Amino acid sequence: MSIQTNTMLKMETEYASPIVAQSLDQWTVSARQFVLEKMIANISPADGERGAVLASPSRNNPNYYYHWVRDAARTMSEIAKLNGLDKTNFKDQYYQLMVDYVEFSKINQTTPTVSNSLGEPKFYVTGQAFSGPWGRPQNDSPAQRALTLTRWANILLANGEQQYVTGILYDGQEPSFSLIKADLDFVANHWQDSCFDLWEEVDGSHFYTRMLQRTALREGADLASLLNDQGAADFYNQQAELIENAMSDFWSENKGYFMATLNRVGGLDYKYSDLDVAVMLGTFQAMSKSHPFLSPNDDKILATAYALHQAFDPLYPINAIEQTASGEPVAPGIGRYPEDKYTGSGPLSQGNPWFLCTACLSGTSYKAAALFAAQKSIQITQYNVNQLNLAVALIDTKLVLNVGDSFSNKTKAFKTIIQGLKALGDAYLRRVQIHAGEDVSLSEQFSRYDGYMTSAVDLTWSYVSVAISIDLRNELNF
Ligand code: NOJ
Ligand code: NOJ
Repeated sequence: MSIQTNTMLKMETEYASPIVAQSLDQWTVSARQFVLEKMIANISPADGERGAVLASPSRNNPNYYYHWVRDAARTMSEIAKLNGLDKTNFKDQYYQLMVDYVEFSKINQTTPTVSNSLGEPKFYVTGQAFSGPWGRPQNDSPAQRALTLTRWANILLANGEQQYVTGILYDGQEPSFSLIKADLDFVANHWQDSCFDLWEEVDGSHFYTRMLQRTALREGADLASLLNDQGAADFYNQQAELIENAMSDFWSENKGYFMATLNRVGGLDYKYSDLDVAVMLGTFQAMSKSHPFLSPNDDKILATAYALHQAFDPLYPINAIEQTASGEPVAPGIGRYPEDKYTGSGPLSQGNPWFLCTACLSGTSYKAAALFAAQKSIQITQYNVNQLNLAVALIDTKLVLNVGDSFSNKTKAFKTIIQGLKALGDAYLRRVQIHAGEDVSLSEQFSRYDGYMTSAVDLTWSYVSVAISIDLRNELNF
């Protein structure tokens, strides 16, 4: 089913095709700069410690005026990358932001908290523990922090800062008082523990959390090995392998997608489909150049992307917009999971599409395109066939892929597939573009009814996701 023809439950006449002033090529240039400025604006707030990262400046409805370990690590991972770029001026403004983040993270790790573990999800920007009731622990948090800091440590090592790395970030001691090793030891010893999911709602074993834990351990093991802590490296690798072997448990042949959560402990009675963009976010955020695993072009990941597309397309009235006024495709806005009731403000009601979820489907589509483009051929399987057909329909409505087909990189179909995936990524990014503020500002959600932004304003993580998606688009050379 192509994006343009699915008009189920749609009220076409109520939504005019939006006039988009800038092409995506133009928009991404200014948007990239803007989202970076907005990310930085939320780091080190005046009334907090340096290095704290606001999830959003919103103080009520919802109150996001906290340092969430997950959101902060996602943000600082982007900042770290920028610092590595300019070899002539290593100690630039981004460097100082990273130093501050390291200091603040140290406070987070050593402050007594309710969960009494490194899985404590959020802190006041002053560094004080948040002691109200909350879904805790969230064990993706220490994995996120370790992954961000491991990548930062590699950048520092490449710039001759060995002493800082072995002193503050990875000391090779046991028990460890250095940031990365403390987190990795925790992850390696506790990944099997039940914990709350990234949405802070459901206790159990989560695809998302496991993906982050696994990549943190793999890349952490390389760092441990580099710093002559081979015993730890072996242990991290061994645990990562156990996680990898258990990931297939999340696959449901019957449903045709990866389920978000196994072994649920109570929780929301309305969340029954187990279809959740968290799976795609896990794939997206755990992507590793050195240790690829369940990547965006994996056929069961593509099946999950398709299931999400199909579920959200008819769910939100605003998705009746399927193209811009000039006829360019607009993909559906994507929420967290179809049954979601969290609106960010007011009582639980009907959930909305989220920018970071929509941007995730854009970014994973670009990445799938890039990964396929590097292959010699593409095999069409029962799992990837639907998503790839969705993609190629954006380029060539006559081409239909069939299970069992195989296309070498010399064929026209091969090129159509990778261009189609890029076009699908673009269609999702256009959805972000049309609901973003005129200046590209992004809140957490946009209304399922009128498309206007809602919930937390200037959500740092929204900006991060769009930045990554734009970068992946820019990396495509076709
Ligand atoms: C706050 C959490 O941050 C959010 O993820 C969750 O959906 C709501 N609580 C549920 O009320
Ligand atoms: C609620 C989201 O569910 C959660 O994933 C996020 O960490 C916080 N908001 C802060 O942005």
